[in-house]
Amino acid sequence: MGAVSAFPLSRTVALSRTVAGLALGALVLSGCGSSLDESTGSGTEEDRSGGNVKIGLLVPLSGVYAPLGEDMKAGFELYLDQHDGKLGGRKVDLVTADEGESPQTGVPAAQKLVTQDQVTAVAGVVNSATALGLRDFFDESKKPLLVANAGADDITGARKSEYVWRTSFSNGGVSGALGQAVADEVKGGVYLIAADYAAGKEMVAGFRKTFEAAGGKVAGEKYTPFGKTQDFQPYLSAIRKSGADAVYAFYAGAEAVNFVKQYKQFGLADKTALYGTGFLTEGGALAAQGKAAIGVKTSLHYSTELDTPVNKEFAAAYRAEAGKAPTVYAVQGYDTAAVLDKALAEASGDSGDALVKALGKVGSIDSPRGAWKFDADHNPEQTYYLREVRADGDTAVNAVLGELG
Ligand code: BEZ
Repeated sequence: MGAVSAFPLSRTVALSRTVAGLALGALVLSGCGSSLDESTGSGTEEDRSGGNVKIGLLVPLSGVYAPLGEDMKAGFELYLDQHDGKLGGRKVDLVTADEGESPQTGVPAAQKLVTQDQVTAVAGVVNSATALGLRDFFDESKKPLLVANAGADDITGARKSEYVWRTSFSNGGVSGALGQAVADEVKGGVYLIAADYAAGKEMVAGFRKTFEAAGGKVAGEKYTPFGKTQDFQPYLSAIRKSGADAVYAFYAGAEAVNFVKQYKQFGLADKTALYGTGFLTEGGALAAQGKAAIGVKTSLHYSTELDTPVNKEFAAAYRAEAGKAPTVYAVQGYDTAAVLDKALAEASGDSGDALVKALGKVGSIDSPRGAWKFDADHNPEQTYYLREVRADGDTAVNAVLGELG
């Protein structure tokens, strides 16, 4: 693990493949200590009779994405509380691990859940780079990974695995949903800015693709050091100098708070419309941005303002339990528990193969975001909404303007 943190981020995927191989070897060698019968995939006597099931929850509890991880965990736990602590009719032993801010922390934490804690499946993962670093480990160890946030395009695309399923979104999907709308609204150039790592690059590429296809013009493109940038002034100066009429941004968590507040303080908000993926103005980030975020338009597959009975019931229960408004991260955690509930009820045994077979049969999930189902690549088929931050008394909310095509 010390060796992992000694490597730069750019080498993490290659390194994690090596670490994955070593950890996988350990898993096979320690098979006699496992609760699974790897040869038949049928589980122990206790598993077959419906004993407790151990689930790993890998979420950031430290770093810039800690608020996202806390919301995801709260959503998962709300579902458990509403279902007597059970998934698939079996009591859940939930083992939570800290994903941290990067693959250097997230990859070994996930490997520990599988090799030492011997969980039946792992749910969570917020960071795209971490999800990419974990893909081979789960594929080779034949353990189900339910990605409840990280949007890395390849894990449900070019590097799709039978054992990797996503309950959230793909980066290309959520960002590409906004391109046409921005091209329709903005006549001049749009400046693209994002955190410098896998998700930032893919969010910009996904937006650029549909925006340019709709006739939009790009005025500039910049990536800011991920997890380290607190002062955005030099980047905001570059945006002003570019003469852009609007900005498209991808930031989440603590970075989103600083970017949106400084965008307003710098005087850009009044002249240069700000667009982004919904993570820019979500939950705790929006609460901290307050009025500075008014007018920001985003694409996302959830808003607290969705006027449906399922969302109203969920939002009320979440507020009662967590003491705050729900977020897309909470919904993704909640839905991941719902997916596992259905799959564990259907699966014949606890083996990875039995569980992924059952995951293929879960069908439609009646979610606070609206009904969705897995597509053939294990990614959600779902509606994306166009949202605008509006004042609501003393607070701000993401009003839903409509559905994106
Ligand atoms: C990602 O790394 O995929 C990601 C992180 C935060 C919000 C959205 C996407």
